[in-house]
Amino acid sequence: MNIVVVGAQWGDEGKGKLIDILSKDVDITVRYQGGSNAGHTVRVGDEQYVFHLLPSAILRKGKICVIGNGVVVDPKALLEEMDGLKRRGIAVTPKQLKIAVNSHVVMPYHRILDGLREKMREHKIGTTGRGIGPCYADKVTRCGIRMVDLLNPRVFRAKLQDNLREKNEYFKKVFNQKGFHFDEIYSEYMTYARRLRAYVCDTALFVNEEISKKKSVLFEGAQGAFLDIDFGTYPYVTSSNTTVGGAPSGSGVAVTSIDKVIAAVKAYTTRVGEGPFPTEFDPKMDEEIRAKGKEFGATTGRARRCGWFDSVLVRYAAVTGGFDELAIMKLDVLDELKTIKLCSAYKYKGKILKDFSHDYEVICRAKPVYIEMPGWQKPINAVREFRKLPPQARAYVERMEELVGVPIKYISIGSERDEIIVR
Ligand code: IMO
Ligand code: MG
Repeated sequence: MNIVVVGAQWGDEGKGKLIDILSKDVDITVRYQGGSNAGHTVRVGDEQYVFHLLPSAILRKGKICVIGNGVVVDPKALLEEMDGLKRRGIAVTPKQLKIAVNSHVVMPYHRILDGLREKMREHKIGTTGRGIGPCYADKVTRCGIRMVDLLNPRVFRAKLQDNLREKNEYFKKVFNQKGFHFDEIYSEYMTYARRLRAYVCDTALFVNEEISKKKSVLFEGAQGAFLDIDFGTYPYVTSSNTTVGGAPSGSGVAVTSIDKVIAAVKAYTTRVGEGPFPTEFDPKMDEEIRAKGKEFGATTGRARRCGWFDSVLVRYAAVTGGFDELAIMKLDVLDELKTIKLCSAYKYKGKILKDFSHDYEVICRAKPVYIEMPGWQKPINAVREFRKLPPQARAYVERMEELVGVPIKYISIGSERDEIIVR
């Protein structure tokens, strides 16, 4: 069984925890898009791990993790992550981790450009500053440097020279910066290449061969449906396909090999960075839920914006993503609330809108139509069976299911590995 896990909102849905649980029963976990902008948190007992580039299954002994071709790899960030794990007693071996030869490499100029572009924009995106957009832009404009190039000094030299020739002009003339030295970047990246060489292979061939041997694969999506470059709240999105389509193109595994799509959804909504957010809370409620849900970015530490559950968004994500099952995460964060609201539709210029809109003005000005439900007002983290949840909590979950139109299979009721209800 090959499963894709995606986020159905604006990221941070709790994909890390879900992947960690599901990876127990699969052989290979593949990251297929995004880069070190992702922050996937896994809690094991008293220990907490945050993964940016490494698949969240890296903690599972004997399981294989793959960084697919669709990922933009920052070798510095990746090595820091690997070194950090080593200090905690977990060594990542080339047998356990495979990096795609044809994945693109994040360069120092990508990170700097990410920051400079943001600074210059009047309407800022609020990126993570990890160089993601500029790296994907180079991939598409065909001047990117791939992992395989890094392993061949002659190719790397020529490509880096070509890039700096053009980019230094741009840095000097547009941004009034002094530009980059070839020798510094070259030697820095040659060091990374030496350390990463043993991990790099044709991961598409590797994964397909394992699939032909009946091994199972879990595809770990990063970000969420509304950060998707095509289907998200453009331009307030990331630069990759975060929806299920990213999995085949970002891994080299055909769509016909994918058996199931599971979407992680928070029991409410959060967004980090700028952009429209119809169900955003007022400042008081925002603060309350942020404190309860510890809603601070795992990558940048920024405060996440919080709001009510928006079924208009998740329904759209379900249609465009072909979701088979939903995993409701962080339901326990709502434990103390007296009433809980769910957005069932939007109201715009006197009309009821049932569907998400790509029109920037509509999505900015649409007013949510809410259903109000009573809260359960008691802790639920000890519950392990759906029928043992308080009736109000069951009713809330069932209403979400009905509004989105996808069966809810998992309900997370705490941050620990075992704090989950499987229906
Ligand atoms: P995980 O995988 C939440 C957001 C940024 C910004 C926009 C573009 O942990 O769910 P980028 O640096 O990608 O160019 O920034 O996307 N963003 C995320 N928000 N979770 C993430 O990842 C995110 N990765 C990027 O905040 O609004
Ligand atoms: Mg995150």
